[in-house]
Amino acid sequence: MKQQLHDIFRRRHACHLFMADRALAREDLEFVLDAGRLSPSSFGLEPWKFIVLTSPKLKLAMQAACFQQPQVGTASALVVILAKLAELEPDSDYLRRLMAREYPGDALEPALTNYRAFHAGTDVKAWSITQCHIAAANMMIAATGIGVDSCAIGGFDAGQVRALLKLAPQSYEPALILALGYCAQAAPEKQRLPLEELVEYR
Ligand SMILES: Cc1cc2nc3c(=O)[nH]c(=O)nc-3n(C[C@H](O)[C@H](O)[C@H](O)COP(=O)(O)O)c2cc1C
Repeated sequence: MKQQLHDIFRRRHACHLFMADRALAREDLEFVLDAGRLSPSSFGLEPWKFIVLTSPKLKLAMQAACFQQPQVGTASALVVILAKLAELEPDSDYLRRLMAREYPGDALEPALTNYRAFHAGTDVKAWSITQCHIAAANMMIAATGIGVDSCAIGGFDAGQVRALLKLAPQSYEPALILALGYCAQAAPEKQRLPLEELVEYR
């Protein structure tokens, strides 16, 4: 298991061009999405929404919103990960529902009071996006585990993505786009700094 996991982490790479004519099976797409769903989140608030694009027309429109990056148009599926904003407001029904799940019974009201203070002092958009990136990482690893290639796409014009998907800016912020499919190019040699340069034991 240890070796298998390590191989998956080594094998995952950013695919810059997909085989446009090789489609991802619906079951595999859902496996990847489920890895996102199962990701950890602050207060258990699951601050993500996944919009899946598979139509050639929408993928090409999204490619234009991503500075014409070819992996966006050639991917079998695009998962646009949206960071929730309005639902994280202290008075939203969503917030109350999910907090009640995390803090049942008498724990709810004090938790809501704490959350209100936390929310007021937090850059909510950045907080929400950060967590979407955790879900994205899990989805990319899950994809590699079942032989599906991916590329995280942070290079997009958020205004264009919002316009294309008809998103109200106060509701959702595009966090990241995952391009999924089968890569048309060989994976390059993995380049990473050695652990010694990254880790400090104290
Ligand atoms: C938040 C984020 C945004 C990224 N945006 C892009 C992007 O817009 N286009 C792209 O080709 N790669 C993008 N990448 C992929 C990185 O360039 C890639 O992961 C990095 O160069 C390391 O290579 P590897 O993933 O193949 O190991 C992004 C990665 C992350 C984590």
